[in-house]
Amino acid sequence: MDKLVVEGGKRLAGNVTISGAKNSCLPILAATLLSEDRSVIRNCPDLRDISTMIKILKNLGVRVQQDGSTITVEPGNYKKYTASYELVSTMRASVCLLGPLLAKQRKAEVSFPGGCVIGPRPIDLHLKGMKALGADLKVERGYIIADAKNLKGGNVYLGGHFGSSVLATGNVMMAATLAKGTTVIENAACEPEVIDLACFLIKMGARISGHATHRIVVEGVKKLHGAEHSIIPDRIEAGTYIIAAAITKGDITLKNMELDHLVAVTDKLMESGLEIKKTISGVRARYVKKLKPLDIITLPYPGFPTDLQAQFMSLMTVTDGISVITEKIYPERFIHISELGRMGADIQLEGPNAIVKGMKSLSGAPVMASDLRASAALVLAGLVAKGRTDVHRIYHLDRGYENIEAKLTKLGAKVWREKEK
Ligand code: EPU
Repeated sequence: MDKLVVEGGKRLAGNVTISGAKNSCLPILAATLLSEDRSVIRNCPDLRDISTMIKILKNLGVRVQQDGSTITVEPGNYKKYTASYELVSTMRASVCLLGPLLAKQRKAEVSFPGGCVIGPRPIDLHLKGMKALGADLKVERGYIIADAKNLKGGNVYLGGHFGSSVLATGNVMMAATLAKGTTVIENAACEPEVIDLACFLIKMGARISGHATHRIVVEGVKKLHGAEHSIIPDRIEAGTYIIAAAITKGDITLKNMELDHLVAVTDKLMESGLEIKKTISGVRARYVKKLKPLDIITLPYPGFPTDLQAQFMSLMTVTDGISVITEKIYPERFIHISELGRMGADIQLEGPNAIVKGMKSLSGAPVMASDLRASAALVLAGLVAKGRTDVHRIYHLDRGYENIEAKLTKLGAKVWREKEK
């Protein structure tokens, strides 16, 4: 197992290229299973979660080739329909195989994804959607077993306790492409990753409208064909580097980023005092004056993303004044608080609200990464802390940040990977 060591105190400056979005690439790779033809997916990030998805596709009997950031998938006449516990248990997002397998094979067995360190993550909306399309579902041996001889369009409302669901919307949309008749998804998620998936499905011959709104309509077709597609830039990776510019009082230009996908975040950071501008070479984030504390509430898109809550919290720990961070998507996604506390941060948790009192400085410490975004938050805190921070269990970070130490080093950070003793 590896750890990441960060020597704090360096100001980050220069250019960083943002990779393709993990959360777009995963369902799009799953969607290639809807056709027998070859699909070519470009701008794929080189991440552990993507390797897991490739393993799952190969296990299903599908040919997959990876050449740099291009992944070619040739499903052919694959016969299998099971995504096994061994692989699904390492990546919750594998649940997005349910829709394509059910639509193409009319049968699917996907290991029940189970618990998650960021709190309960139910899949009731996925199941509700599949049932609305006529699937028979049961849970046996830890697997969701779905059968649908006659998949047919239906109307489904996908609102959960905390709003819409990204992967449930994607799953139902994928299943509906090959169902007989029309499917209407109400309270659909409209995250950029859902739109990217819809665009790929349309290239495959699917008939979808209303993506980017909360009402998606899918007219089922008999067959889909292969397609070529380039994945959108990762808005969460981009947001993490913008926060890196803010926390180190730096000046970073982000290449290959879509500013429109991050408005809720850039708006807040500019309100705090960070300068963010579109230039000919990319998006420039520059520290120009002392930042002000801010309150944020995480919400479904276009609200402030939960996947940047932890990183934003790190910034607020060193921003003079009091800020309140309210988590509305995963009310238990706060494990990073105790680790930031080990670095001297002053954060009180009251229900879904974290009250952060900005300190003059943090002090480097050994800390434990608990999930992907919490890991990024600890690295950001390490960049500004006095002394050395050892972020243990860095495998979480490798699930979602391509070449993070190389990218940070190029920006001037002192950061390296070490084997755990
Ligand atoms: N929810 C339900 N029932 C369901 C599904 C979800 O109640 O059947 C609730 C969840 O409990 C949560 C909310 O809906 O409160 C949102 O969960 P969602 O289903 O949208 O999450 P997801 O689609 O499984 C994706 C991302 C997550 C990201 C969330 C929210 C992927 C692969 N994952 O998950 O990304 O946090 O949307 O934006 O797209 C990450 O990248 O670190 C990550 C966790």
